Amino acid sequence: MSQSKTALVTGGTRGIGYGIAEELATAGYDLILGYRQNQDRAQDAKAHLEGTYNVRVFLVSGEAGDEATVDAYFSCIQENFGGKLTALVHNAGAYWQNRSHTKPDASGSWFQGWEAYEFFQGMYPKCFIRLVERAVTCMEDGRGYIVAVSSPGCNTSRGPNLAYITPGTAKASVEYLVRHYAKQLAPRRITCNVVIPGFTKTEAWDPVVEELGAAQVDAFIGSCGMRRWASPREVGGVAAFLCSEKAAFITGASLPVDGGVHLK
Ligand SMILES: NC(=O)c1ccc[n+]([C@@H]2O[C@H](COP(=O)([O-])OP(=O)(O)OC[C@H]3O[C@@H](n4cnc5c(N)ncnc54)[C@H](OP(=O)(O)O)[C@@H]3O)[C@@H](O)[C@H]2O)c1
Repeated sequence: MSQSKTALVTGGTRGIGYGIAEELATAGYDLILGYRQNQDRAQDAKAHLEGTYNVRVFLVSGEAGDEATVDAYFSCIQENFGGKLTALVHNAGAYWQNRSHTKPDASGSWFQGWEAYEFFQGMYPKCFIRLVERAVTCMEDGRGYIVAVSSPGCNTSRGPNLAYITPGTAKASVEYLVRHYAKQLAPRRITCNVVIPGFTKTEAWDPVVEELGAAQVDAFIGSCGMRRWASPREVGGVAAFLCSEKAAFITGASLPVDGGVHLK
């Protein structure tokens, strides 16, 4: 009989996180899906995943940057899975105040201010540290997988995106933390990797389309790498691979899933 597998996916109810959840469900994972506040979409995600893949799905809402939210994820794991976790995927992400940031201010600065800075630090590295420190106490040696979702331009493989300075510093910290935990956890044979999606068609792009117009966004996508959007499931398939035995010897890697965008 195969052992049960459980994964926690933050921001797992829409967009890329949902693509990851679908691919993990296909691989037989039961799921805890985090989200912020969109309850209808979360319920739809649960109904579809349970109905299609015959897995158990639990929903936990809350701001990723709040410690209480991480406590709630792990209470859910304790109550429903006896405190056992196989995979952790930290994917949740959003714009500051749900507004796109496509222009510098009048002085030429792209920095969005300290409140925004703290928001991104809370949602990305602080949340990731809280998640990993708890998750590893729930994982068996030789059977634990950790994946973080980063963004293009947050490590030295590609030039920085000027508009991304405030979230980018937080994602860059996550990429450092992934290498740290990969090294720390290697003796336990628990892996820790980063997936870097390219431009992926999700609702996160709606404010950008609103600000720049669909034609400009399409022209931009048409000028990058393979000249098309990624789908959430293309990114999800790679995250699910990294949460499988086939990837048991891959750790500390930052893997672009972007149709060549990083080669620009
Ligand atoms: N889309 C791209 O082109 C792209 C490219 C590179 C990297 N990424 C990264 O991929 C990740 C997912 O992006 P996406 O495009 O899939 O976004 P999305 O479609 O807007 O989905 C975001 C998901 O995260 C949840 N969420 C957002 N902010 C949260 C917060 N502060 N606390 C807890 N949950 C939160 C949302 O919950 P609600 O439904 O309740 O709002 C939703 O489930 C992000 O880390 C993003 O930076 C995206």
